[in-house]
Amino acid sequence: MAQNNQQLTALSSNGSAGRASVISAAQAIIHAAQSAQDLYVHFAVNKCEIIVMRLFLKWDAIQEIPLQGSISFSELAVKIGAEEGLVARLSRMLVASGMLTLAGSDRVAHTHRSRMIAEDALFRSTAKLILYEDFPQPAGTPEYFDHYGRREPAGKTHTPYSFRKGQPDKPVFELIHAQPGLLQIFMEAMSRTQDFLATSYDASCIARDDDDQHHHHDADDVDDDDDEVARAVVVVPGDRRRKRPLLVDVGGGAGRTLKAILSQTPGLAPERCVLQDRPEVIERSKGDQDPGLRGAKAYLMRRCLHDYGDSECVGMLRQIKEAMDSNSTLLIMEMVLLPDSPPFCYAMDMAMMGIAGKERTLDDWRALTEEAGLKISKTVPAPGIGLSVLECVKA
Ligand SMILES: C[S@@+](CC[C@H](N)C(=O)[O-])C[C@H]1O[C@@H](n2cnc3c(N)ncnc32)[C@H](O)[C@@H]1O
Repeated sequence: MAQNNQQLTALSSNGSAGRASVISAAQAIIHAAQSAQDLYVHFAVNKCEIIVMRLFLKWDAIQEIPLQGSISFSELAVKIGAEEGLVARLSRMLVASGMLTLAGSDRVAHTHRSRMIAEDALFRSTAKLILYEDFPQPAGTPEYFDHYGRREPAGKTHTPYSFRKGQPDKPVFELIHAQPGLLQIFMEAMSRTQDFLATSYDASCIARDDDDQHHHHDADDVDDDDDEVARAVVVVPGDRRRKRPLLVDVGGGAGRTLKAILSQTPGLAPERCVLQDRPEVIERSKGDQDPGLRGAKAYLMRRCLHDYGDSECVGMLRQIKEAMDSNSTLLIMEMVLLPDSPPFCYAMDMAMMGIAGKERTLDDWRALTEEAGLKISKTVPAPGIGLSVLECVKA
């Protein structure tokens, strides 16, 4: 057993591909060995682990367990403002699922799994969203399908999420944005995932503005000596801007993608980059909204289209096409599903189904862009759960 563990550790430390193959091999063994009763237990334990982890993340309980040593149920109860008996029962569930370990009869300590969570704020903020009570609501609400039929949810309203919230006529983002707590968690998770859903796109071609001649501008009007990345989130109002915008991040959230692109692309002037989003998001990002952004060199849509069904996406793409010049580019950054994509990609597809969106294959992306009068001129694929870049031009 010890030798097996050592072999597994050696294999799994062999980069993410090594880890993925160890995990899928181990899962294949578990699946082959499972009886019907084991499978039932697996569902029950998984479901409860998720429910308790949601509470422990929300109450910051995971961080209160010391990284080394242990904590008694009574101490933990005081730290999170809960009754000792409740903490003991919830903790024991996480011990049973292998998330925590017991240290004596009334004390808990971290396992390798929970310690990673305690040490990683990035993980915690994304996990808070993925485990959130009802958002993204995986589409498995039977009542929704009873009501609307057993078909793929589509459309801006009447989504499984809005149905579950009892406001089927409301678009999903309107509902999210009306809940400040959820909006905060959502924005934090979106901007945090920037770090692990990186793409390998080289944006230097956007920085070279060969097209300045065609646009009226007066170099003196643009303050070029302040290249602070933070300025990316401040939109220069249209009447003061003389140069063509170089990059417009449509639905760019908190601006982290734009900041990352700016820091990786020397020569891309921050004051010519625009963060566009809903007013309440821009308000939180300390930027200004300027809806009339026409003729930019490049538009970016990162993880926005997967929030919507096909006809909404075509409508959004057409709107962007209308704003594009003949030499503008639209960069779509999204997952591109392959038959052997990792399980997480399919979990994302289920989450998106809950808001009537979807993850798509390259053929799906081709069909959408074509219908909107665009064509994909270049694809920069990303492996695993990474985001591919689809460069689109007017057809
Ligand atoms: C899934 S998030 C992606 C955020 C960011 N692009 C990223 O990759 O992290 C979708 C974004 O679209 C924005 N959004 C939703 N409806 C919008 C609208 N009508 N106009 C502009 N942005 C919108 C949301 O506020 C949110 O920031």
